[in-house]
Amino acid sequence: MNQKNDKWDELLVKTCGLTSPGMVKSLLSIKECETLLALISKANGNFAKANKPFNGLKIFKDRRQDNSQNERFVNDPPHDNEALTTWYKRFFQGEAFGLIMNFLEVYENEIVEEMAIHVAPLLEKRGTPWAGLSTLFFMGDYGYTPFGVHRDSPGEDGILFHLGPATKIFYIWETDVYNKLTNHAESYHNVEEILHAATPYILEPGDAISFPDDMYHVANTEEFSVSLVLDYRRGAKNTIKERLIKEMLKVNIENNSLLEHVDESELLSALDFQKESEAAVTRLKLRLGSNGGFDKKSRITPFTIDLAGTYKLKAPFRLNVINQQENKVLVFSRGHEIFTRQSSFLVEVIESLNSGESLNLPTLNIEFVPDSPSMTVFEFIIKLGETDVLEKV
Ligand SMILES: [Fe+2]
Repeated sequence: MNQKNDKWDELLVKTCGLTSPGMVKSLLSIKECETLLALISKANGNFAKANKPFNGLKIFKDRRQDNSQNERFVNDPPHDNEALTTWYKRFFQGEAFGLIMNFLEVYENEIVEEMAIHVAPLLEKRGTPWAGLSTLFFMGDYGYTPFGVHRDSPGEDGILFHLGPATKIFYIWETDVYNKLTNHAESYHNVEEILHAATPYILEPGDAISFPDDMYHVANTEEFSVSLVLDYRRGAKNTIKERLIKEMLKVNIENNSLLEHVDESELLSALDFQKESEAAVTRLKLRLGSNGGFDKKSRITPFTIDLAGTYKLKAPFRLNVINQQENKVLVFSRGHEIFTRQSSFLVEVIESLNSGESLNLPTLNIEFVPDSPSMTVFEFIIKLGETDVLEKV
């Protein structure tokens, strides 16, 4: 962990606090890269099983986006425990390809579990961005990025973790140099023509690179490789306002009586606007904080409680509590909201889980009496389990 902490310090120094391009060697170990590669393969399988529209999936064949491949992908994703290096050979049969998938965390909880640990030191140093963290990944043997030299969406400062197996070269241009060379082109396909003016960064498995969202860049991977991007999403002001408004509508949800006529000057105070917008900020902070900084809540998973078992919270997630009216509490767990009855027993359980202690269920002496404090705790633990925040010790 300390070593990881030093690597993040190194990246922050090299990038002047993520405001200029920079890279660090071996932010992830080879073993961590292998774990993430296996999880990405699993996420791809889950994506196919979800059988939703092809949200966030882009497949390029012979350097062109080919939507007909999406259907094939959903019908023939990586099998359980099949390595991506085996799958892509079977699927693309030697043809140059590229594949991008956004919001990877929606398809596999373990990716968030893994990445939240890696990124925790960065969040401690820089804080959590208000639009939360997200992940996407690229894989392929496409040579230069199929859509040419480009820049990313505003506010999406990415940290790219290269997972290998092959080396990838990243090229970044100073904005004024790029504009002069391309006459302000939005993207540029004759990559080699302007390559002389770029700074190359050679990424081996485990290396990480970060650059500001407004810088033009392109990657080159001649042989098969995979990179995972962690989006550190600052979010445009309107995006954050929208999130806060959503949270605000949940503050004091029961107090929704008809508004008596008030003058314009009294409307905001009659709606408790100031107080409730502050409560919305707290809610957003606690929601993201419960989920390692990630925006998308975990996938709900079936959970069978073992009454003889011992459980603890998966690091670095936390249970964040807001007291509600009428003896109720709201607990955020991996982005989900759990409402339950307040009791000193419940507070004790939450505090011990948050401090990293293990919870041995037999020692709780649960009495299966409806509405009893121990029954509340029992029901609460089941709900926690479904949010995939618990691990068995
Ligand atoms: Fe990009």
